[in-house]
Amino acid sequence: MAKKTIRDIEVAGKRVLVRVDFNVPLDKNGKVTDDTRIREALPTIRYLTGQGAKVILISHLGRPKGRVDDKYAMDPVAARLSELLGTQVKKIDDCVGEVPREAIEKMQQGDVILLENVRFYQEEEKNDEKFARRLAALADVFVNDAFGTAHRAHASTEGVAEFLPAVAGFLMEKELNHLGKLLENPARPFAAILGGAKVSDKIAVVSNLLGKVDTLIIGGGMANTFLRAQGNDVGKSLLEADKVDLARGLLNEARAKGVNLLLPVDVVAAPAAAPDAQPKTVPVGQIPAEWMALDIGEKSVDLFAGSLKRAKTVVWNGPMGVFEMAPFAAGTLAIARVLAGLDATTLVGGGDTVSAVKQAGVAGRITHISTGGGASLEFLEGKQLPGVESLLDK
Ligand code: 3PG
Repeated sequence: MAKKTIRDIEVAGKRVLVRVDFNVPLDKNGKVTDDTRIREALPTIRYLTGQGAKVILISHLGRPKGRVDDKYAMDPVAARLSELLGTQVKKIDDCVGEVPREAIEKMQQGDVILLENVRFYQEEEKNDEKFARRLAALADVFVNDAFGTAHRAHASTEGVAEFLPAVAGFLMEKELNHLGKLLENPARPFAAILGGAKVSDKIAVVSNLLGKVDTLIIGGGMANTFLRAQGNDVGKSLLEADKVDLARGLLNEARAKGVNLLLPVDVVAAPAAAPDAQPKTVPVGQIPAEWMALDIGEKSVDLFAGSLKRAKTVVWNGPMGVFEMAPFAAGTLAIARVLAGLDATTLVGGGDTVSAVKQAGVAGRITHISTGGGASLEFLEGKQLPGVESLLDK
């Protein structure tokens, strides 16, 4: 990796401000329901404490819009982190000023504290310079381990890096190594599977990947716009009518570049996305006028699986249908199992896709599951991530 990491600097005895992405889902009692992002930050935290640093963690949680909102306080995260680390991690009730300063003064080498939600300040998302300086004033070194938030140019991800020596943590390094290899030097054949509701969310990714992949598989709601561009009727399916021309252009571009672009050949359709729907599988182009496509059918799964058989690298972002509802889950879960069975480097990104892989029980058989949703997508678009750019070069 081209950026310095925590291995490249001296941290013993230093106050180290670590930006983590502890934006984790909570249940209605405020308990963490998926602690993956917390677990993934443990190697960095353990390394720093082991080196005798004073570890000051900072994160956002949810989107409290610059106001203090108890619903988004970091206490449940501190509780789960304490369990995972096997040591008490104190949550500090503010993230700048006197309260954290006093707490940090009392820290011993190897201690870990977690500051309050940085998005309780509107200056955070504005990347306010004064605020970034106040964050920087708490520490001697800045570590960014929040890959999931690296696409945001906020005070705690980018701004603060101006005022302190700034390096990457191990999770950031791992994510950039896996994703970077994908775009720079993938083992071939290289296939991408894109899904999700909207074409508009994925245009930039499709464009960038068309220059890199051998096979591009498109499923999920976004496939309808491509199917329409090929002249198929899609009934009442989700369709972005204003993107049909663009989809046609991308189909032509794929052909010109020799990319094998695959769309579903059959879909699971129903009158509405309802958990008790009685769907039927129909060939594309034969969706009843008042019905909508909500999953890919078995023939599509077979087609996609066949084209992936020889792949040596596969990246997947976006479900094949409304997999949260049992009648429309089969296609997405089948693709998850296909990926797990490949003799290939497999990468999965995006919150929904990661949930699908977990639901299919195959997460352990995927090479790399990214902790970044928007961040991994922007990386695949070929964009620079501000939270990475701002770190020291090697
Ligand atoms: C995420 O969950 O994708 C990151 O934590 C970023 O959150 P945000 O979309 O609210 O900036």
